[in-house]
Amino acid sequence: MKINFKELANKYQTPYYVYDFDDITKQYNELKDAFKARKSLISYAVKANSNLSVVQHLAKQGAGADCVSIGEVKRALKVGVPKYKIIFSGVGKTDDEIRQALEFDILMINVESEAELRRVALMAKELNKEARISIRVNPNVDPKTHPYISTGLHENKFGVDLDTAKRMYIFAKKSENLDPVGIHCHIGSQLTELEPIKEAVNIIADLVRNLKSALKIELKFFDVGGGLGIVYDNETLIDTYKYAQTVLDSLFGLDITVVCEPGRFIVGNSGTFVTKVLYEKVNGDKRFVIVDGAMNDLLRPALYDAYHKIEVLDKSDDKSECNVVGPVCESGDFFAKNIELPKTEHNDLISIASAGAYGFTMASNYNTRGKVAEIAVENGQDRLIRKRETFEDLIALEEEYLQ
Ligand code: LLP
Repeated sequence: MKINFKELANKYQTPYYVYDFDDITKQYNELKDAFKARKSLISYAVKANSNLSVVQHLAKQGAGADCVSIGEVKRALKVGVPKYKIIFSGVGKTDDEIRQALEFDILMINVESEAELRRVALMAKELNKEARISIRVNPNVDPKTHPYISTGLHENKFGVDLDTAKRMYIFAKKSENLDPVGIHCHIGSQLTELEPIKEAVNIIADLVRNLKSALKIELKFFDVGGGLGIVYDNETLIDTYKYAQTVLDSLFGLDITVVCEPGRFIVGNSGTFVTKVLYEKVNGDKRFVIVDGAMNDLLRPALYDAYHKIEVLDKSDDKSECNVVGPVCESGDFFAKNIELPKTEHNDLISIASAGAYGFTMASNYNTRGKVAEIAVENGQDRLIRKRETFEDLIALEEEYLQ
């Protein structure tokens, strides 16, 4: 759907994030549909965009939640994601987080080390519970994505190798307080090639068959993680149906529910960051377009040199090369370098595309900048889903300590 950025700017001021909720539904349905040959659970990766209204919208479509902190688990529960669709992953869960996850009785805790498994067993014992766990296996395959978002190689901190995983399943089976129900693997994010995924799921599925035949451990959930890429620029994507088929093909002989944890695929292209031009200037022969949004609002260009398509609204002539930069006091504060944009004027609007995933969630208050407003558009109607932060919001937790 075409969103009227200008109208929203007049109504809510700039900068803002806007999300097309109908597009989110479409993406969710596409993936759910691709797995329809088997029992499946699409557990949305809340880290991609954790706005309560976004998570609630997905919960209404039937999605579960993949969470990486107890805070995210609480967000999911708050908006009605059923506890039996919530997964808790992460390499560094605290005792308190483990305890709370057990008390909430979520679907499973994805365990990422032997030391963590012992902690989970201990916490479950103290609470007189049996913890449903799955083990995150690191299959040591190269996902061929940006090194910062690659997670399936032994050099990455995530998961455990196959031998360790086997030892952990044996330990879990023997423990009265652990119930090994699942297996998990996530090799990286923004994946655009199917081959590494195929390699990974085949390794994991072999392990599942092996656990069944050699150790009589029958798992119920096969969690393939997230990672499906989206178009930012001109990437060729993995076909969703081929992806699902590859996963399903690996599972021959197994009666197991497929779990998938997409984040970016669901919300990435639904979101746009809209900012307005403050000034233009030329330093030597370098042209800068200075806007009111900054790296604290959308960090991906600064952090990963990520490309987001930028357009000036209602203008197309008189293009020349420029850097689009924000007001933050860092040379890394840019949205794009050396791109062709039309000549702009004060208050022109600029849209930065594909900003629905890892945009707002990675925002900070650097330079005492309040986080921007978030807006949803659904069925042609817009509504605010997070207020713009005020100066008072920013100092609220400090003020009382002034001397
Ligand atoms: N499951 C696990 C265990 C994960 O670690 C992640 C992402 C996902 C699922 C969801 O991945 P997705 O479907 O969104 O690719 N900030 C980076 C991305 C970090 C991804 C971290 N883990 C970025 O802006 O590109």
